[in-house]
Amino acid sequence: DDVSGTYYAMTQRDASIEIIPGLRTPIMGYEGVFPGPTIMARSGRPTIVDHTNRLAVPVAVHLHGGKNPPAQDGHPTDLMAPGTARRYAYPTDQRGATLWYHDHRLDFTGPQVYRGLAGFHIIRDAVEDALPLPAGDKDVPLLITDRLFEADGTMYYPSSDPSLRTPGLYPWAMNGQYGDTALVNGVPWPRMEVSATKYRFRVLNASNARHWDITLDPPPPSGDPFVQVGSDGGLLSSPVGLRNIVMSPAERFDVVIDFARYPVGTRVVLVNNDRTIPVVTELMCFDVVRRETETATVPARLAPPLDLPDPADAVGIRHFDFTRRADGMWGINGAMFDDRQSLASPALGSTEIWEFTSDVAHPVHLHLVHFRVLSRSRPQSPEPWDGGWKDTVRVRPGETVRIVSRFEGWRGKYVFHCHNLEHEDMMMMANFTVQ
Ligand code: C2O
Ligand code: CU
Ligand code: CU
Repeated sequence: DDVSGTYYAMTQRDASIEIIPGLRTPIMGYEGVFPGPTIMARSGRPTIVDHTNRLAVPVAVHLHGGKNPPAQDGHPTDLMAPGTARRYAYPTDQRGATLWYHDHRLDFTGPQVYRGLAGFHIIRDAVEDALPLPAGDKDVPLLITDRLFEADGTMYYPSSDPSLRTPGLYPWAMNGQYGDTALVNGVPWPRMEVSATKYRFRVLNASNARHWDITLDPPPPSGDPFVQVGSDGGLLSSPVGLRNIVMSPAERFDVVIDFARYPVGTRVVLVNNDRTIPVVTELMCFDVVRRETETATVPARLAPPLDLPDPADAVGIRHFDFTRRADGMWGINGAMFDDRQSLASPALGSTEIWEFTSDVAHPVHLHLVHFRVLSRSRPQSPEPWDGGWKDTVRVRPGETVRIVSRFEGWRGKYVFHCHNLEHEDMMMMANFTVQ
């Protein structure tokens, strides 16, 4: 094929892999692996991905965080039938950032992502290349999930689609699928040998429903465990020290950990303080095994001032209430997803404020646009980790969160939804149409 840009070909297929030592786990995998292959893209250079669906189920591929025309966005009704192939073409006219791609089949995103259909898609750009941040083998993406396994190694997920294998009724009444086993890059409790120096970790919460609250044990003797350098939409303008990282599904935290603060021989554990049942306390560990001369630094200025949307430019404010309905389904302003309707029709190029309220915690995600977190009702200001360009915002129980967004790019139909995948599948999703 005559393609100028970054080119990937991927087959989506059933596979059986070893996740738990000695057991085989059936998965649905891009290229038959979990996580899927990491796509490395370049800002300004189109990225082409040819997908072939050899699974027994329909699929849609969404590039989360991608600014793409509607036909390339992987709308949940824009499906690839089993046995078909199609090309996704991404303009990649956007800054460097840690994106990810995942399945988006209407009603079945939860089970299909759970079984393996997710991977990183990293865009790099010249601003980032010029920085002295940790790079090469010290720039490490971490895809964090939780899974529940049966005794034979099968991932347990009840679904009404018989081709998704686990018998059982679709869990209408559940608040999301939680597992008792953390997987980091598909591996249970991995151990990584590190030098006593700085590392950059691009942390993605790819869990279906779990919000993680992670920190380091033992904490470093001085300073914050993490220095955040980027969020969903790429580098922050300046770094932010964080004691812990609270991340809802689909959020990305790009952080630097300086292992030079620990003596050689220390085991540093990435622990989870969120107590959601089943409780998962440890994710992985780092063994500090050697000294190394430091070459990386975290500069006080990471990126030119971000051209974040200005609330003064907003032409209006829309309110969306994310709550469970009386019938047990999850709704936005009381409505279930209906593909014949759009809940919002912003004009191309316009700026709007969107206000979200919630019953339980909901990670709210918009396709197409990145936004700025403007305010929270508690503690009445954005949190320290709300900075930069975001595409997913954690709305806590009973909280009111306002974002401001510029609807640039393309006219057409996109979705916004809760990224708790069971809430999404249970209809907490709506179209918006840029006009
Ligand atoms: Cu990451 Cu519409 O999703
Ligand atoms: Cu998305
Ligand atoms: Cu939700």
